[in-house]
Amino acid sequence: MIKATILGAAGGIGQSLSLLLRLNPNIDELSLYDIVNTIGVSTDLSHIPTDQVIKGYVPKDRSDNETIKLALADSNIVIIPAGIPRKPGMTRNDLFKINAGIVKNLIHQTGLACPDAFICIISNPVNSTVPIAVEELKRLGVYNPKKVFGITTLDTLRLEEFLKLTLKESITTKYLINDVITIGGHSGDSIVPIINSWIKNFKKGESDEEYLKLIQRVQFGGDEVVKAKDGKGSATLSMATAAYRFINNLIDAIKKNIKVKEVAFVKIDDLNCVNIPDYVTKHLEYFSLPIIIGKDGVELVQFPSKLNLHEVKMIKNAVEKVKVDVTKGFDFVHGSK
Ligand code: NAD
Ligand code: LMR
Repeated sequence: MIKATILGAAGGIGQSLSLLLRLNPNIDELSLYDIVNTIGVSTDLSHIPTDQVIKGYVPKDRSDNETIKLALADSNIVIIPAGIPRKPGMTRNDLFKINAGIVKNLIHQTGLACPDAFICIISNPVNSTVPIAVEELKRLGVYNPKKVFGITTLDTLRLEEFLKLTLKESITTKYLINDVITIGGHSGDSIVPIINSWIKNFKKGESDEEYLKLIQRVQFGGDEVVKAKDGKGSATLSMATAAYRFINNLIDAIKKNIKVKEVAFVKIDDLNCVNIPDYVTKHLEYFSLPIIIGKDGVELVQFPSKLNLHEVKMIKNAVEKVKVDVTKGFDFVHGSK
């Protein structure tokens, strides 16, 4: 039995992701929670014929914690896209003030209602909301490092697509999946695109103008969407697709006991890691890196091999950026020293 619950299910990401998950035959129950409109969304989706149970939950008022408890009860997977999105001119850090509190409260309820669930955090700023979640789960005594993920898959989707467009050759996405990834954090230059042997396709290698343009476009892909949406939010459809890719793989690990390869923002110092260089581990506890997930969660965190010099430089810079954001999240739960 797989029960997946979305917290923030009536939003732009929430609704698109709900549709994708409604069509997944491996999900037995889909639970949609938001402070607004999930009764409408779940009723709409319930007319799609599947063998899945679907329910929508909206709290009666701000003090109602019973409704979210019902929504979360017995969940195996909890996905959190609740919170406000950016408007033009904002950074992801500008979302911290509002989203930090939302994520902390939702994680608190998750820790109480379904402490064994896999938790996938989408709400921004991911570099800080994941540490908030970890510290809140620790406070409740239910933290399992193998089951808490910050979802950074959208950066990798962007790299796949933009690299294909840049190379202008007849390569297909099929060859790029798993071969190119993004690591680091999820904001601006904390995002590190890793393109493996595709660097050979750029005439001047790491100093090629087209390569550097590609890196910049991936790192600031979120801004491109925010600008184009012109005040009406940020990436929702591509994000739902990215989250779906991750969750679908996660379900394969949980339900079919398959070891799956993914990339996510995790607390590396609490996990089984191989080949992570000192310049990362010495300085910080969280990073988005390739992981192997089994039925009980993360089994291994790996570090990409064969990096080019520019990639190493970007990782060192990302370490500094992520460190600041992680501290901000930690301090939100514990208070700054
Ligand atoms: P949205 O405004 O369309 O939807 C957010 C939803 O959260 C709304 O329906 C709102 O009612 C709900 N919500 C707010 N407070 C809540 C609470 N306490 N409990 C339950 N639900 C609550 O926004 P969106 O476009 O779906 O984006 C959501 C978040 O995801 C934003 O923070 C955005 O920055 C982030 N995001 C992350 C990535 C990523 O790559 N990780 C990509 C895109 C967007
Ligand atoms: C993205 O990368 O699209 C998201 O993090 C949303 C944003 O604010 O850019």
